[in-house]
Amino acid sequence: MKILVINGPNLNLLGEREPGIYGNETLKSINAGLRQRAEQGGASIDFYQSNHEGDIVDKLHSCRTDTDYVILNAGALTHYSYAIRDAIAAIKIPVIEVHLSNVHAREEFRENSVISAVCRGTIAGFGAYSYTMALDYALSQKK
Ligand code: DQA
Repeated sequence: MKILVINGPNLNLLGEREPGIYGNETLKSINAGLRQRAEQGGASIDFYQSNHEGDIVDKLHSCRTDTDYVILNAGALTHYSYAIRDAIAAIKIPVIEVHLSNVHAREEFRENSVISAVCRGTIAGFGAYSYTMALDYALSQKK
């Protein structure tokens, strides 16, 4: 089983970015924990982060032939990127939408996700553990 974790804009600054909302853990440390858990579960895992919408669209396209699950935190693009929504709909791989923060308990513009309807499901509000839950779901589907 091959899993790809994609993080969008500003998530490279985790650890220093608004720690009261997003926590103190860096993306590098989150990814290291996910790698360990995935490997223990017998899956291989890759990581990609970009601040650019088109790069994320390209990554969704290019992973479509060799990936079983995508875990995606699209950052603010979640709320307005029809291009990412269409890319998710275009590929056959299940995509799990994750957010560190509870997007429903924040500013009004964060309440709407334009990608949720084309994702397998959404996990939000559990900090870095949101990624862990998404990973555990993917691992539970291993044949
Ligand atoms: C986020 C929530 C988004 O609204 C925000 O723009 C982010 C991070 C989260 O993980 O909580 O960049 O996706």
